[in-house]
Amino acid sequence: MDSDNEKTKRITRRKFLGVSTAAAAGGVVGGIIVGAVGGYLAGQAAAPPAATTTVTTTKTATQTVTTTQTAATATVTSTVTQPATTVTQPVTTTVTTTRTVAPEAEVGYTSLITLNVNGVDYALLVDNRWSLADVLREKLGLTGTKTGCDRGECGSCAVLVDGVPMLSCMLLACSVSGSKITTIEGIGTVGNLDKLQASFVNNEGIQCGMCIPGIIVVSKALLEKNPKPTEEEVKEALSGNLCKCGNWPFIVKSVLEAAK
Ligand code: FES
Ligand code: FES
Repeated sequence: MDSDNEKTKRITRRKFLGVSTAAAAGGVVGGIIVGAVGGYLAGQAAAPPAATTTVTTTKTATQTVTTTQTAATATVTSTVTQPATTVTQPVTTTVTTTRTVAPEAEVGYTSLITLNVNGVDYALLVDNRWSLADVLREKLGLTGTKTGCDRGECGSCAVLVDGVPMLSCMLLACSVSGSKITTIEGIGTVGNLDKLQASFVNNEGIQCGMCIPGIIVVSKALLEKNPKPTEEEVKEALSGNLCKCGNWPFIVKSVLEAAK
């Protein structure tokens, strides 16, 4: 128990400080909290009002979406109707007519001739431009007569025209119509050789043989006219015949042997 003195002292001190009892309960003097009690009371008395907090939350979401699309197969059938178009185009027509005309039918270029060839009579319609050699080889098939130069230089085409040796490549067939023609085929045959042909075989008078038909035909005419010719006469008679093989010694010998 405080004594009265003690109370008096505290009152006095308060008075001295100029603080009322009520103010002492607040514990604040001039904005200054006095003492631990005052501070505590100040804390209790000035409790702050409950705070209201507004929280705003913003949420941003990122979403990735993957879409797979399968292409569809579509069949489209279209019918297009087009108006008819008229095109006018020039057409050139070329007509080629091929007319086969036998040479014999060409008026003015043919002749009807007769020939006796190797003992056989022929009536032939020939082109006026054909040589006797052509007619013998191409029309009658007597290919024993050779055409070497076809220009009167080699003598291989020689035939007998009425017994006279002539170059058939230089004679028009139509010009000797009615004549008697002797070719190599008419001199002798394989099974019945003329003595001249046999002599050429026996005396190696033949090499390639190209010149031989003409040489034998000319030699035949020589022996008909001169059965016992000399070597010089044989060479002179055959001066119009060429032997590309150069077989002259044996050719002359063959003729002379045939004349024996
Ligand atoms: S083919 Fe006749 S002379 Fe040569
Ligand atoms: S044998 Fe050949 S051209 Fe006289």
